[in-house]
Amino acid sequence: MSEAKIEAWLDEDRAFAPSAEFTAQANAQSSIYEDADADPVAWWRRQADRLTWASEPTTSLEWNLPNATWFADGTLNASVSCVDVHVKEGRGDRVAYHWVGDAEGESRTITYRELLGEVCRTANALIELGVKKGDRVAVYMPMIPEAIFTMLAVVRLGAIHSVVFGGFSAEALASRILDSDCRFVVTADGAFRRGAASPLKPAVDEALKSCPDVSAVLVVQRTHEDVDWVEGRDHWWHDVVDHQSDVHEAQAFPAETTMFIMYTSGTTAKPKGIFHTTAGYLTQVATTYNYVFDVKPETDVCWTAADIGWITGHSYIVYGPLINGVTQIMYEGLPDSGGRDRWWKIISQYQVTILYTAPTTIRTLMKWGHQIPAAFDLTSLRLLGTVGEPINPEAWMWYRMNVGGNRCPIVDTWWQTETGAIICSPLPGISSTKPGAAMRSLPGISVAVVDDSGKEVGNGEGGYLVITAPWPSMTRGIWGDPDRFLETYWSRFPGKYFAGDGAKLDADGDLWLLGRVDDVMNISGHRLSTTEVEHALVGHPAVAEAAVVGASDETTGQAIVAFVTLKLSVGETEQDHARVIEELRAHVANTISPIAKPRQIILTPDLPKTRSGKIMRRLLRDVAENRSLGDVTTLTDPTVVNMIAGLMDTHATSED
Ligand code: WTA
Repeated sequence: MSEAKIEAWLDEDRAFAPSAEFTAQANAQSSIYEDADADPVAWWRRQADRLTWASEPTTSLEWNLPNATWFADGTLNASVSCVDVHVKEGRGDRVAYHWVGDAEGESRTITYRELLGEVCRTANALIELGVKKGDRVAVYMPMIPEAIFTMLAVVRLGAIHSVVFGGFSAEALASRILDSDCRFVVTADGAFRRGAASPLKPAVDEALKSCPDVSAVLVVQRTHEDVDWVEGRDHWWHDVVDHQSDVHEAQAFPAETTMFIMYTSGTTAKPKGIFHTTAGYLTQVATTYNYVFDVKPETDVCWTAADIGWITGHSYIVYGPLINGVTQIMYEGLPDSGGRDRWWKIISQYQVTILYTAPTTIRTLMKWGHQIPAAFDLTSLRLLGTVGEPINPEAWMWYRMNVGGNRCPIVDTWWQTETGAIICSPLPGISSTKPGAAMRSLPGISVAVVDDSGKEVGNGEGGYLVITAPWPSMTRGIWGDPDRFLETYWSRFPGKYFAGDGAKLDADGDLWLLGRVDDVMNISGHRLSTTEVEHALVGHPAVAEAAVVGASDETTGQAIVAFVTLKLSVGETEQDHARVIEELRAHVANTISPIAKPRQIILTPDLPKTRSGKIMRRLLRDVAENRSLGDVTTLTDPTVVNMIAGLMDTHATSED
């Protein structure tokens, strides 16, 4: 579809009502909002019947701000609700996962029955290594089926997984292992990215130098590269798992048993260990997966194109889809592994019906050109979803026209690591959709947009998104830091959960998300705090001071721009500066992750500060985005800004 045509569509400010054809086939229940609104807690209790309970709960919500429990006196086993139940009820031959490797032609199909066997084997192996209820197990793995077997095996034992995205550095891994005192690590020798092996085990070895309490490391052999080995600590997966029995009798645990910790960036340098408990989390991921994606387990082939190292992977590659008993794609590679048409090949080969991904990926696919998807038969698709960042209307329209054939509804789903599951989204078959709008909160969830004083804004106005009542999959807190939990989320607007996002209601009262209002950046859908990156920069011996901002970027949503003042000892020539800039970018990549590598580093003799000494980030953001600078009278030295603006032109480094 041409640019001009997209512009014309947008000018009409069009809302897309679900087509009659889609509505007729959808599992749509138009009374769903009224049912839930009548008594949200009772409605959620009915949704909890989606789980396989060992003993049914007699309680629902207990709320003592900021602490909630849901269904607390029930008992269950998470992995039984996800896997065993399907085999027991005769769905064992249904495919759970079509795993698709980075290299074309490499694939593996796993039925629910096979999945159960693998999970049991892995659970038995973990028992042999000493894993017990409540233990923390770090998972640092590529997108291979063993990652899912491990997550399900860990929760089967009542233990707690902490999946750390494979792109994180050794230092980032170590800090996460230490923060939650993980005693076990599951990893692989390496991962494949566009055909090349990239190592993982060396980062684990490096991390464990500072984590002496880790007693066992289980290593999947994926790339067959040489790795160092610590006898007694390191175990090959094939040595320990393969010979285990594929039977494991699962025990039931209380509903509020902690299932997992997921580290995410907040506004300080130290990432927060957001933890989730069993029944509330599972109830909401299962319910939202069913309603938001209108799933039909017998016929759908669902593809959540995300990494299991993030919350989207946990909730919508593992737990939500499995409880619903659907067939999924798990794809190891990048969008262009084997060529820029790889995604469309996968969709047409496996007849994918539901595709869920991040706007940043859609923008990349869009940049590669609509001719690429146009060469494939994508008519199996019936629903599209997006998550992770605001989607710009152009990308939404491109997705709708070129991927969805102007036929598939798009669900723009807003949620967070902390919310555990989707909070705001249209419901396909029921709600209409608008390019760029998350529309409204789901049944059983109450959100509002409030102004600075906490008062709800009217239609046509903007403010902050808050959630006004507890929900089942809400985080139960920050690992080891209850005070920070209360302070971060529940203090800004008393009694309400403050998400950190700006939002507006349009003239129709529909909800639009506007991005973070705090110091959290969103780079390609990955959360990073400005302080975290500043901290990494000042950790380099050449750096005196650093200020980091997220500047808008056409492809990645935001990009990191760092303003750095150097210590005097660094040379003054152009070459000295260019060298130090490259060194600093590499240093940040090594300290946190390549995701955190600044797009630009601007060297400046000073940073603009208010009279009270606070760095003026808003102003730096204006500089980074080349906007006019507005009121700078509170600067200690206004000339600094002009100087920085001048430097922008000379020291801009291009994207990698
Ligand atoms: C942003 C990802 C606009 C938001 C599931 C939120 C979005 C942060 C959307 C959470 C969306 C997520 N529209 N913004 N549909 N979805 N966000 O914890 O700023 O990695 O606070 O969870 O992503 O990121 P997280």
